[in-house]
Amino acid sequence: MDSQKRNIVVTGGAGFIGSHVVRLFVNKYPDYRIINLDKLTYAGNLENLKDIENQPNYTFVKADICDYGAMLDILRDNDVDGIIHLAAESHVDRSIRDPFTFARTNVMGTLTLLQAARTFWESLPEGYEGKRFYHISTDEVYGALDLDGTLFTEQTKYQPHSPYSASKASSDHFVRAFHDTYGMPTIVTNCSNNYGPYQFPEKLIPLFINNIRHRRPLPVYGKGENVRDWLYVVDHARAIDLIFHKGKVAETYNIGGVNEWKNIDIVKLLIKTVDRLLGNPEGFSDNLITFVTDRKGHDLRYAIDSSKLCRELGWQPSLQFDEGIEKTVRWYLDNQEWMDRVTSGEYEKYYEAFYANR
Ligand code: NAD
Ligand code: DAU
Repeated sequence: MDSQKRNIVVTGGAGFIGSHVVRLFVNKYPDYRIINLDKLTYAGNLENLKDIENQPNYTFVKADICDYGAMLDILRDNDVDGIIHLAAESHVDRSIRDPFTFARTNVMGTLTLLQAARTFWESLPEGYEGKRFYHISTDEVYGALDLDGTLFTEQTKYQPHSPYSASKASSDHFVRAFHDTYGMPTIVTNCSNNYGPYQFPEKLIPLFINNIRHRRPLPVYGKGENVRDWLYVVDHARAIDLIFHKGKVAETYNIGGVNEWKNIDIVKLLIKTVDRLLGNPEGFSDNLITFVTDRKGHDLRYAIDSSKLCRELGWQPSLQFDEGIEKTVRWYLDNQEWMDRVTSGEYEKYYEAFYANR
């Protein structure tokens, strides 16, 4: 897997995590061809990849993973031997309002891509030899934990609660079924909450940084007691690189930050950091915290045991959370134009409708 030249499709490469994966692969592997396949939904933004868009080993293709003909053509035309599949609808609140879109993209889209890969790879003399279908999934498929210190392991039973996590769970099952039924060399990883630059500001951290800056309310769901396990996005991309090259076929690896935070504590940390960086007095933005109706079916706690990945492949997160949050807040404050552009259209309408309907 290491030394050969490769033609790799990264689906969802214009999104938050995908753009970090594309950047890492383009810069680290000049001999590979990296094909960023993305439909450019509201969450996909080619501006996320401005710094590498002219590199000779990078190509962008606008396409929908639900389009079987297009998938087959792209795989064949580029002689693709590796797929890193991140394209998805990714926001839980949207899935609660519109579950069909999540079933279409996350379930049917993944199945369509699998079927196209199967058709292409089975048509080659060497078949699946040297091929890899790597599916990026979430810890949300495992359901919710109590506040009791237990962790999700690779053996934890799937128990998704939201339409988003149900659609991701279904796609994980299809990926494993393609290994078990057709022998496709697949890998699945389940990761905890990511944070860092280029995240669409519908998610907690970028939304709240932007709201603090503009002195808008910070809508904390319920009492803010839900717990998430946060990982810096570049550390997720590093794990994906390692697992793509060294992970064992048919295995599952959990990826997490060993970094659990109650939402309300994250919100206080964001306020403190933004206020300090903007030169505001301490406590200046505390009054923006606004407790609102809880998310329907809100999972209480996620926390990942990533010891298998650390033990077997030697992965470790590189950044401490205080460093990661400082970098992240600075990035959003320094990139207000990016924020203004991505929040200028569709998202504003969604945001208004969402709060009007609560
Ligand atoms: P994102 O919403 O930022 O990006 C998704 C990308 O997929 C966008 O570029 C979008 O244009 C593209 N896309 C959507 N539908 C498509 C379609 N039909 N065809 C082609 N492209 C399409 O998502 P993200 O947060 O970067 O998440 C990426 C993946 O990682 C998802 O599969 C998600 O489930 C998983 N994941 C995310 C997190 C997290 O904290 N964000 C954690 C664990 C796993
Ligand atoms: O755990 C991995 C998952 O993390 C990924 O699979 C998802 O794609 C990703 O969106 C994320 O899901 P969450 O629902 O945990 O992320 P979100 O940023 O939407 O919310 C984080 C927590 O903050 C959650 O408990 C809900 C809460 N929240 C969120 C928003 C947007 C609020 O209290 N107020 C808000 O306005």
